[in-house]
Amino acid sequence: MTVTRKELRIGVAGAGRMGRIHIMNILEARNLRITAICSVIPVELEWARDSVPEAELFTSFEEFISKDTFDAVLIVTPNGLHAQQVCTALANRKHVFCEKPISPDAKSAWAVYHESLKYPHLKVACGFPRRYAPAYVAAAQKVRNGEIGDIITLRSQTTDLIMDNDYFVNYIKTSGGIFVDCCIHDIDVCLFLLGKDSLPSHAYATGTTNVFPVFKEFGDVDDGMGLVNFADGKTIINVYGSRDNRHGHHSMTEVIGTKGRILINGQPRLYNIDVSDDSGTRMEGPDTQMEVFEIAFKKEIEAFRDWILEDKQPNFNLKDAAKAVSIGAALMDSLHKKGQVDVVTC
Ligand SMILES: NC(=O)c1ccc[n+]([C@@H]2O[C@H](COP(=O)([O-])OP(=O)(O)OC[C@H]3O[C@@H](n4cnc5c(N)ncnc54)[C@H](O)[C@@H]3O)[C@@H](O)[C@H]2O)c1
Repeated sequence: MTVTRKELRIGVAGAGRMGRIHIMNILEARNLRITAICSVIPVELEWARDSVPEAELFTSFEEFISKDTFDAVLIVTPNGLHAQQVCTALANRKHVFCEKPISPDAKSAWAVYHESLKYPHLKVACGFPRRYAPAYVAAAQKVRNGEIGDIITLRSQTTDLIMDNDYFVNYIKTSGGIFVDCCIHDIDVCLFLLGKDSLPSHAYATGTTNVFPVFKEFGDVDDGMGLVNFADGKTIINVYGSRDNRHGHHSMTEVIGTKGRILINGQPRLYNIDVSDDSGTRMEGPDTQMEVFEIAFKKEIEAFRDWILEDKQPNFNLKDAAKAVSIGAALMDSLHKKGQVDVVTC
């Protein structure tokens, strides 16, 4: 859909945990207007009716996406629906911002990438907020400036606060597994920091279910560690994901180069505040990545808008998004097979 007006009309599919954050950010941003919302959950539709009274509400994605009342769609639905919904949105002439991962499996992730090439006039973004988090953007700039030489190793982790309820048990059933869902952020940010079209070659992963033994029933782990090699033999990626951090959420990335090292978010710090008293000194940590990446979630939506309205070059990279799924899926495969596997890209 060609957008000539200086305002982007948006339809949002999904008004759950993440969809609501995007909706609230869009309401605060300039030159964005939500005209339609789709959800299959009645209580979310009630929330949408109260929060965005001007939006038309839908329970059927097919009916929603066929409307010409919006130019771009945000897909914030469960991971397993993404690939099909992105392709349907393109066929209905919509620009697309899809939440990570573009799909839980590599074959359909690459199918989406190739499908997107058939619509050069439409923009397709996969949402990875770290590409817009100021600390990561600054680190990427330093890497590009050659400040730490050539990258040798990247180590990245996403460790979530433990939830003493059924949340994760229900969530992981359809997530695709810890490396495709949680560590996909780490994989993508490593590709972002590498900054070139590197070819992953093989992967090895291991993991445990000490805290949530029930995860085993769904082929998942509560703590997982993965290693990825690249075809050029020069770089290694090491990712760690956890669903049971006791001290809160902690996303951290370390880039080791031939001339130096950059550590991003080394401390699990929410604000730059230390509290000192009789028991020593402590910092305040975040509970969720939503708090850590609050600014990045706003910036990624603004970047999507500016890409469409002003043709400004974004940090999004759909090929990296498909490559990240290939790596995440290979790590899940290695976890199940208990051995090294090839990373299949197409
Ligand atoms: N970028 C991030 O850091 C981040 C953080 C959390 C979640 N996410 C991603 O956001 C997406 C949604 O996660 P969530 O936690 O908000 O899930 P959720 O379960 O809270 O919400 C899912 C939404 O999808 C809608 N939905 C389900 N089936 C549908 C269908 N057939 N058609 C239309 N809508 C349908 C539901 O009505 C609901 O609104 C996932 O892809 C997840 O990976 C990203």
